[in-house]
Amino acid sequence: MSVTPISSASAAGGGGPDLPVPRHVAIIMDGNGRWAKKRRLPRFAGHKQGIAAVNRTVRAAGDLGVEVLTLYAFSSENWRRPAAEIADLMGLLRHYIRAELDELAREGVRLRIIGDYRKLEPDLVALLDHAIERTAGNDRLTLAIALNYGAQDELLRVTRRLMREARAGEFDPDALDDAAFEARLDTSGLPRLDLLIRTSGEQRLSNFLLWQAAYAELVFVDTLWPDFDRAHLAAAIAVFGQRERRYGGL
Ligand code: FPP
Repeated sequence: MSVTPISSASAAGGGGPDLPVPRHVAIIMDGNGRWAKKRRLPRFAGHKQGIAAVNRTVRAAGDLGVEVLTLYAFSSENWRRPAAEIADLMGLLRHYIRAELDELAREGVRLRIIGDYRKLEPDLVALLDHAIERTAGNDRLTLAIALNYGAQDELLRVTRRLMREARAGEFDPDALDDAAFEARLDTSGLPRLDLLIRTSGEQRLSNFLLWQAAYAELVFVDTLWPDFDRAHLAAAIAVFGQRERRYGGL
């Protein structure tokens, strides 16, 4: 399948019915620490500015016609960071949900969490569950936040579940296909991932959405996450529009 190229200017203008806007965009938000270091600020300052970038990007994604925005906020490997930085990140997440929930609800955003988030602190789990419930009826944009997420962990959780179901006689292993597997992923029910963006110049997937990225277009941008804005998202979407996606065909 080939797609019609679009200009970044038209993507920045808010999309249109004939533009190939990706339905599902995921972002590895990288570079908060380097942003702070460049300014001789503590890493916390970079994460705080990272929240401002999250707000800009969520708004822009909705305006540009993206259906699902998945953000890698805390990986299952991020527990290796110093306890103080983990506490800072959890504090910022708490603050983000408290401060932005009304606005998200008003803007038609449905919140979803991917990852093993029930292992976070109980008050945070309760806050997230409340936000998920409160926004469940919205359909303008789904914001999926990855928390305590690792793709290998997700694939192991799916495999364990399938094996348990098979042992209990609830699932016939011969019936296992793409759809049955995908129905058990954290992203079940979401449209296929179209575009995966990583900021800060690093070119790795870092254990993010390994199954879902099978046919996604990858766009790496040098911008550090705290500087990411609507124009960067629009430019990445324009690059996506110019790529020819063949899904293994000719
Ligand atoms: C990567 O920068 C960023 C993170 C590990 C955390 C991202 C989290 C936020 C932006 C805040 C919480 C998010 C939401 C959705 C409310 P880094 O610290 O690895 O940067 P570095 O590689 O430059 O050190």
